[in-house]
Amino acid sequence: MPMPLAVLVSGGGSNLQSILDKIDAGLVDAEVRVVLSNKAEAYGLTRARQRNIPALALPHTAFATRQDFDAEMVRLIHAHGVDATTGAIALAGFMRMLTPEFLRAFPHRVVNIHPALLPSFPGTHGAADAASYGVRLAGCSVHFVDEIMDHGPVIIQAAVPALPSDWEEGGGEALAARILKLEHCIYPQALAWLAKGRLKVQDRHVLVAPPPRRIAAAPPCPAWRAPPWSRASSPPEHKAWQAAPKFRAFLADCPLNWSWRGAGATPRSSGPAGLIQKGVRHGAFPAFPNANG
Ligand code: GRF
Repeated sequence: MPMPLAVLVSGGGSNLQSILDKIDAGLVDAEVRVVLSNKAEAYGLTRARQRNIPALALPHTAFATRQDFDAEMVRLIHAHGVDATTGAIALAGFMRMLTPEFLRAFPHRVVNIHPALLPSFPGTHGAADAASYGVRLAGCSVHFVDEIMDHGPVIIQAAVPALPSDWEEGGGEALAARILKLEHCIYPQALAWLAKGRLKVQDRHVLVAPPPRRIAAAPPCPAWRAPPWSRASSPPEHKAWQAAPKFRAFLADCPLNWSWRGAGATPRSSGPAGLIQKGVRHGAFPAFPNANG
């Protein structure tokens, strides 16, 4: 069964869109059951409604306390079939801190995307803060959510060069736009791993299990029309096969020139696996999904 997913947005919802597109493409085994927003005008709600996904505005100002607001969100999420066992919550530009009560309802099932290489530049202006600081390498992080802002265990990160023009007044916007394109690649990838049960949290570390080996269905047995097996007519081989790494597909709309590195490209081979970025004018800046498939 596809992983039931609730997506929480406060704004444009381009990350929601990328998740929906990758689900449509068969790359993420999940189903968005409900989209919630604390802002009635959030365009993310419109994106959901255009696809007939339940989209609910829940203005936080209508609630006396954070706990009341979060309790209503938990109720709505459960009511749409998303629970802590099989479901997950994706924060996609949701600009509210979640209460411990909310997180206790979905332990290790709430994920967030942040436009900076955590633990650097947490907070609401991650990309702009990185630009004003004058970093040479920026990026984005998908992480499990804990009670501290932009703090939980990191699932995947991707990096992009920061240019001197990004450091100028207002340059943070250009950097944020380049980072956003990477977000659209790594967020669906993290959710795909989560949906397949491949993520394990050990203290602060997230381990990504290799994809399960799949065995092709046995071909129909021809015994009914063939004589008993002999050397001359041996039974068809039941070949085991492995799915090729799908990571390439997540990068189809990436702005950079990525390529799959061979080592570790199949689940059984050893060595580091990952993506390397080629042809970057300002040096080599690898992105490093910490997985091998
Ligand atoms: C993204 O940059 C995300 O990292 C941050 O908020 C922004 C949301 O963008 N948390 P969108 O609404 O998904 O377009």
